[in-house]
Amino acid sequence: MTRRQTLGLGIASLLSTFAGYSGTENSSAKNFTELSEYEQSSSELTDLCSISEPTCSLGSYAKEQGILYGAAAKHNTLSSDSEFATIFSQECRVLVPENDLKWEVVRREPGQFNFSKADWMAEFAQSNNLQLRGHTLLWHHYFPQWVEQTLGADNAEDMLIEHVQTVVKRYAGRMHSWDVVNEAVDHESSRQDRLRTSPWLSFIGPEYIDLAFWTAHEADPEAILVYNDNGLWWDAPEGEAKKAAVLQLLETLRSQGTPVHALGIQGHLLGHEMHQMNPEKLRKFLSDVSSLGLEIMITELDVNDHNLPDDVGLRDRLVAEAYYNFLSVVLDEPAVTTVVTWGLSDRDTWYSGWGRKENARPLPLDRDLNRKLAWRAIVESFISTSHQGDNIYS
Ligand code: G3I
Repeated sequence: MTRRQTLGLGIASLLSTFAGYSGTENSSAKNFTELSEYEQSSSELTDLCSISEPTCSLGSYAKEQGILYGAAAKHNTLSSDSEFATIFSQECRVLVPENDLKWEVVRREPGQFNFSKADWMAEFAQSNNLQLRGHTLLWHHYFPQWVEQTLGADNAEDMLIEHVQTVVKRYAGRMHSWDVVNEAVDHESSRQDRLRTSPWLSFIGPEYIDLAFWTAHEADPEAILVYNDNGLWWDAPEGEAKKAAVLQLLETLRSQGTPVHALGIQGHLLGHEMHQMNPEKLRKFLSDVSSLGLEIMITELDVNDHNLPDDVGLRDRLVAEAYYNFLSVVLDEPAVTTVVTWGLSDRDTWYSGWGRKENARPLPLDRDLNRKLAWRAIVESFISTSHQGDNIYS
């Protein structure tokens, strides 16, 4: 049996061991003991190759399948942690500023634009030969207070156009893609179109989405324009309702000729809820989105481990399984072109603010920038996928 087959078996066995894990039944404890056989191979599972080899990275393994892989990062982290910045530029082929292109950073002061952090990130991407992905032009919250106080029916359209035009034009020709509108669908909305209540919807109406995409397209005709949303990976009732509502929005936008080019599936997986992911329903959703002529990007992938066992060895295996389980489904869809993890190392994850906080282990590298089983599981999902994309950016 080849090394890869052994390895694939290892990951596959992880899968079968935990297929029904929900973190509540005692029966799952029985399954955990079967994992110990991999204890001795965990180092083997992560020493596939040396980071010193140019082809030995998440980005390189993804590129072999026509997939663009990268991660989100903060200006504060990349600009102050040179060790992390070096590893980031080796593992990734696209950089997403986690917060530095948001209103809360770019528009912190009334009536001003502050691009200092975003410009630094754009320069870092360019000097490290990384693609740059913009996140996000319009969202329903995290506005600076002055914006909340200023936005109204008389100026919302002008403020939207000014913001999108100014920000997109600044990076025109350098931006791989933009999350133009983020999380605009609320499956619990009483509206027929299930759009989420927001200042944009209140003051402009549902047309705000079309306006944002056209303004972005006119400002940078080269950028791939993305509608980005969460909760699309799972089969729980709310997940199904969300999928249906997002598909309805995309069908409407495409039918009216809105320049939306891709769906962004955030992919914030819940490690203890992976039994809620129905592969066949997810495949059908991806296929339905693709049939609209849209690309699909996995834009904020991570695995929340706060409800998984405390034992780090077991927790790492469950996190690895979740990555492999999810990516093995989505990467079979040819329209999937991009995979971005919401962070690269546990050293800097948004989960450090809650849940397990500094003990969270949601990402491919640990806090010391060592590769974890999650790194290997993502590599294995790239290696084993039947995906044959032709992503010119990867
Ligand atoms: O950098 C400042 C720091 O100087 C200050 O002391 C501190 C306390 O005020 O705030 C720090 O900024 C915070 C920033 O995270 C960096 O930690 C912001 O207040 C906080 O709002 C920001 O939270 C971000 C959140 O979006 C809201 O923008 C998270 O990092 C980021 O991971 C999260 O990402 C979102 C995506 O944009 C959309 N999808 C969901 C995802 C997770 O919520």
